[in-house]
Amino acid sequence: MASHGGAFAKVMPCLKNKAPTAMKAISNEQLDALCRNGTPIDSQGGYPCIVIHPDDTITKIWAQRKRLFSSRSYNPYHKRFVKNAAMLASRGILVPEILNHAVLEGSHVGIVTYRSLPGHSIRDLLKETPGEVDIPGLCDYIFDLHEKGVLFRSIHFGNIIRLPDGSYGLIDFTDVKYFNGPVPLARRAANLAFPLRYQEDVERIEVAKLPSIVNSYLTLLDLDTPAREQFIKTFEDYLRR
Ligand SMILES: Nc1ncnc2c1ncn2[C@@H]1O[C@H](COP(=O)(O)OP(=O)(O)O)[C@@H](O)[C@H]1O
Ligand SMILES: [Mg+2]
Repeated sequence: MASHGGAFAKVMPCLKNKAPTAMKAISNEQLDALCRNGTPIDSQGGYPCIVIHPDDTITKIWAQRKRLFSSRSYNPYHKRFVKNAAMLASRGILVPEILNHAVLEGSHVGIVTYRSLPGHSIRDLLKETPGEVDIPGLCDYIFDLHEKGVLFRSIHFGNIIRLPDGSYGLIDFTDVKYFNGPVPLARRAANLAFPLRYQEDVERIEVAKLPSIVNSYLTLLDLDTPAREQFIKTFEDYLRR
C-alpha cells in the first residue's frame, strides 16, 4: 500500500486517513535518525514519547512492553491510534494525517508519524489567551462528536486543537469508543465531566469567567426537567470521582 505522504501530504488538515497506512519494520538506526530529527518530549523505555520534527510532522513512539493477557499485547496502542485516525476521519472528524506507521524490527516498539494539526490546544489557549476560548463553540463540537457516536475517552483540553479557521480537531486518540447511533446521555454527561477533572484548566476557566460547560452543552439538548436534572447529577457525580 502506498504511504499517505507525497501528493496527499500537501493537503491539510485532513478528513482522510481512509485506510490505515501499511506498517513497516524499521531498524534501530532509522529510529535513532527519526528521534534526532527534531525536539523530543518526555521519554519511556529509552525512547522519546513524541518527537516534533522541523517540518511540522510529529512522531509518536510507544515503547511499553507487551503484557501477557492484556489487550495491549494483541491490540497495541500504535495500532489503535492508526485505526482510530481512520475511523474518526470516516465520521467526519478532523484528525492529523497519518504519514507512516512502523515497528522497530524485532521489538514491540510502535512508531507513528503524522502531520501536526495547525493551531493550539484548548489547554494552551486557556493558559495564554483564555478570552479566546469559545466555550459554546467547543460544546457544539463535543456535542457533534457525541451525535456521531464518538466517545473520545481521553477528552481533555490538551487533546482538542482549535485550528486557525476556528474549527476543532483531535489528537492523542488511542482510546475511543464508537456507538452505532448517538452516544447515550449518561455517557455524554460523564464524558463532559472528564476535562473538568484537570484543576489548572478549571481554575483558568473560572478566572476568565468563561461560561459553564455543562449549561452550554445542555442548551443543545432538548431535555425535559427530570432528564436535565439526571444529566447534571451524572455530570456532577463524575466530577467528584
Ligand atoms: N497533531 C498534532 N498537532 C499539534 N500538536 C500536537 C499534535 N500531536 C501532538 N501535539 C502536541 O504534542 C504534545 C503531546 O501530544 P499528545 O499526542 O497529546 O501526547 P501525550 O498527551 O501522550 O503526551 C502536546 O503538547 C500536543 O499539543
Ligand atoms: Mg495528550
